[in-house]
Amino acid sequence: MNRVLIVGAHGQLGFELQRCTPPNLDVVTVGRPEIDITDSNSIEHIVQQYQPDVMINAAAYTAVDKAESDEPQAWLVNHKGAENLAASAASSDIRLIHVSTDFVFAGQSCRPRQPNDAAAPRSVYGKSKLAGERAVLQQAKNALVVRTSWLYSSHGQNFVKTMLRLMGERDSLGIVVDQVGAPTWANLLAETLWGLVATDATGIYHCSNNGVASWYDFAVAIQEEAVSIGLLRKMIAVTPIKTEAYPLPAERPAYSVLDVSATEQLLGRQFPHWRESLRAMLLELKK
Ligand SMILES: NC(=O)c1ccc[n+]([C@@H]2O[C@H](COP(=O)([O-])OP(=O)(O)OC[C@H]3O[C@@H](n4cnc5c(N)ncnc54)[C@H](OP(=O)(O)O)[C@@H]3O)[C@@H](O)[C@H]2O)c1
Repeated sequence: MNRVLIVGAHGQLGFELQRCTPPNLDVVTVGRPEIDITDSNSIEHIVQQYQPDVMINAAAYTAVDKAESDEPQAWLVNHKGAENLAASAASSDIRLIHVSTDFVFAGQSCRPRQPNDAAAPRSVYGKSKLAGERAVLQQAKNALVVRTSWLYSSHGQNFVKTMLRLMGERDSLGIVVDQVGAPTWANLLAETLWGLVATDATGIYHCSNNGVASWYDFAVAIQEEAVSIGLLRKMIAVTPIKTEAYPLPAERPAYSVLDVSATEQLLGRQFPHWRESLRAMLLELKK
């Protein structure tokens, strides 16, 4: 039986990976403080202890705006941390599956991005994640990088939970309409990663829910679905606004939809539309 080590057990993805662990695998999970991926001794200690065949890296510095003023730490985790894991994987013959982001793309073109399209990140987060991807692919020859977008889960902090809170507190909200992507349930990403563990795929693959949305579309859908199942009591006014009306430290891509067709083909399944997964997550929150 293959032993799989999940690194970053306490994040959104780490949580979802543990929820849908395939029964035929021996899965071990570690998170901080047991492991610090910026410290190669800490990784080595865990690798020696568990001796995995596969490592899934769900750990990252994900505070996109904070990264702009906390650049060294974002690079340390997203670049050096990924490089440390790859070096350890390469020296112990472990297959590394590493997760990355749609924010590696500049977002100028309105065509879904293919895995091999040129990356041109605009933020510290995107640049540090791209450097991490490259370090992983360079160091660990059979590594797999899986990019995803706009992740949410019932566990942890994310846009869906922020919207539910604000919609319960306010009478109106203005949400950005000129950034388009694909909201992705971390549960879909987790199932996909488990599917990919069973293949010998290497290189870069994409995983997101199907369909596209602006943050405004996503917020409108969150409200409609949440009201329909009684998670929110009343509708409030949700208004589309431009990015410049809601300035944030990190620049986001205007369009960062990922082309997931190669992953769907490899796994022989079509990913659900984002709205179907959103409904499932909200029903779970209601329970
Ligand atoms: N969230 C999104 O919208 C999004 C979008 C696209 C791609 N992604 C990518 O998807 C992956 C999973 O994201 P997520 O949303 O699940 O992230 P998350 O919820 O923020 O979880 C990240 C985890 O990484 C851990 N971590 C941070 N620094 C670490 C270190 N030095 N050593 C060990 N663990 C460390 C954190 O530990 P603590 O719990 O101790 O803080 C946290 O549990 C990441 O690669 C992310 O870049 C995310």
